[in-house]
Amino acid sequence: MKTFILPTDPAHLDASLAAAAALLRDGKLVAFPTETVYGLGANALDEAAVRRVYEVKGRPEDNPMIVHVHACAQARELMQEVPAYFDELANEFWPGPLTLIVRRNAAVPDVVTAGLDTVAVRFPDHPVTRELLRLLDFPVAAPSANLSGRPSPTDARSVYMDLQGMIEAVLDGGSCPMGIESTVLDLTAKIPTILRPGIVTREDLEDVLQTHVAAAGADANADAAHPLSPGMKYRHYAPRAELLVLADRDADAMHRALSAAIASARADGRRVGLLAPEHFRNCGEQVFHSLRDGSAVDYARHLYAGLRALDAASVDIIICPGIPPTGIGAAVMNRLGKAGRIIP
Ligand code: TXA
Ligand code: MG
Repeated sequence: MKTFILPTDPAHLDASLAAAAALLRDGKLVAFPTETVYGLGANALDEAAVRRVYEVKGRPEDNPMIVHVHACAQARELMQEVPAYFDELANEFWPGPLTLIVRRNAAVPDVVTAGLDTVAVRFPDHPVTRELLRLLDFPVAAPSANLSGRPSPTDARSVYMDLQGMIEAVLDGGSCPMGIESTVLDLTAKIPTILRPGIVTREDLEDVLQTHVAAAGADANADAAHPLSPGMKYRHYAPRAELLVLADRDADAMHRALSAAIASARADGRRVGLLAPEHFRNCGEQVFHSLRDGSAVDYARHLYAGLRALDAASVDIIICPGIPPTGIGAAVMNRLGKAGRIIP
């Protein structure tokens, strides 16, 4: 199968959107950009199409997918009842990087939710994809468009590297501005509970809801017989190289710790990649990938692209300085912890 890359510059946008919509109507798979990461889309109401998404990703079938919509009303069509807080959250954060878990109705096929009686819904904020979703009279089920276990793709080329020959098309909308996956918030629990931290932070949610929001710790989740968010129990976002993350400390101490870790890996004959803010360049590494000024937003935006770039440079080990696990930093450190090992 040939995988088409559909350009979205002004001269090609309409034809590319029409082609992508026609493929999805026909039960085919199309990867598309969002403000977070690229998704691998299928008609959410077409069981055979959704099943193929699991196959091409190599995704465990007990890991449900997010259903993408272009309007709050379209999300409501999938729910049994509209839960408390839904309207406030949708008004404030949609379109945007917040996924809401709600009780589903019979419109949603079992294969999308892995048999759960809940469904994850999200209204993504990307101009190309909002237009695509508006052209369709069904919602689009989509996980991130990577092979299962690999870092999520934040540009069309990364999707192509993972999935070429297995999917019909990639809609190329350039680099994703946010770079890590949406916040997943469970509205079916007694207290709204964050299952996956993201760019919409706990503080943001509490500000809007004026109520306590819980965070399901990765550990609590792993211990449960039925993890709340099935996806969080798997190893994730991982580069091929080993990833070592040094927990946050002051800049001088970090500089010394990075230099020591790099020297030690090189003494073992390993090729070392450093994924770090610009000011840590030249700590003895062979390959450097910049996390710009090192804000949590910079980390999020450049993290997955950096892991992929350093893999492409054939390093044996990637060393990365951590940041404080607060606000957006909580989401960044969550992904780094799942992709590698955090050293205190
Ligand atoms: O930003 C994003 O969310 C991207 C873009 C493409 O929208 N999508 C994404 O999908 O990251 P995926 O499949 O890689 O992650 C979806 C997460 C998984 O951890 C999954 O277990 C969880 O959402 N999830 C989906 N449905 C759920 C449900 N009904 N209950 C609990 N967790 C659910
Ligand atoms: Mg994923």
